[in-house]
Amino acid sequence: ALIPPREVSQVDGIVLEKNICNTWDKVWNFQAKPDDLLIASYPKAGTTWTQEIVDLIQNNGDIENSRRAPIQLRQPFLEWFRRVTPGIDQANAMSSPRTLKTHLPVQLLPPSFWEKNCKIIYVARNAKDNMVSYYYFQKMNKALPEPGSWDEYFETFMSGKVMWGSWFDHVKGWWKKKDSHPILYLFYEEMMKDPKRVIRKVMEFLGKNLKEEVLDKIVYNTSFDVMKKNPMTNYINDPEMNHNLSPFMRKGVIGDWKNQFTEAQNKRFNEEYEKHMADTSLSFCMEL
Ligand code: PPS
Repeated sequence: ALIPPREVSQVDGIVLEKNICNTWDKVWNFQAKPDDLLIASYPKAGTTWTQEIVDLIQNNGDIENSRRAPIQLRQPFLEWFRRVTPGIDQANAMSSPRTLKTHLPVQLLPPSFWEKNCKIIYVARNAKDNMVSYYYFQKMNKALPEPGSWDEYFETFMSGKVMWGSWFDHVKGWWKKKDSHPILYLFYEEMMKDPKRVIRKVMEFLGKNLKEEVLDKIVYNTSFDVMKKNPMTNYINDPEMNHNLSPFMRKGVIGDWKNQFTEAQNKRFNEEYEKHMADTSLSFCMEL
């Protein structure tokens, strides 16, 4: 039986939902297959958007086919246990080729993904917007800890004691890994600025070749407004989520942090950002 929601524990210092921690061996020993595709991200970085783009490319732009089921059934969320069928069981029951989703930091990814040399798409989003999106998500998602006030949440996020760990370690860890593994590293901001370019990049990474008009159709059908109305991408029927508190498809913009951060928080954030990012070649196209 699942333990009550909102409880957390840790695996190797990373805060995770308690059910995941209690059955960690099951996640760690997951057997990936060589033709698995993995979509990895820090929570709220643009995962669902990337997932829908991938599904539409795989289906050659067939909109009806991509609306066959909610996104979480088409692409199992690997480590998530709070569903009728946990992500691992869902993945094990699925026929290949499979596309899977994870929020795990790079060091906690089941080793079989590396051993089987699976293709991975990672998506990252600038930390400030990512933090704001995560705050509202923790309010509306009954499976995640209560975020408290915004000021409290700011501190929790900066300390890295949020579920799936520190944003800084997450984006840096996956960035480094791409030197030795087939990882396509995407940015939410580049998807916003030129979605077609990114969709083409994903298409090439997947070894597909789609016509211009198909790409245009995918751009349209993965736009924020269309995905917000699409019950197969907006999580409207997810029993964990209370969309009255904050919709899953909330704003979908760059720079919403300006409506949330105080001046002091922004200053503090910028200082910490410089420190955390001093040892990486990764940089974000965001207004800091
Ligand atoms: S989750 O729960 O981790 O899978 O969430 P994730 O999908 O990573 O992130 C949700 C945020 O992405 C925004 N979103 C989009 N933005 C632009 N275009 C499209 N198509 C799109 N789809 C989802 C969504 O609105 C969340 O961001 P915020 O800032 O909260 O609006």
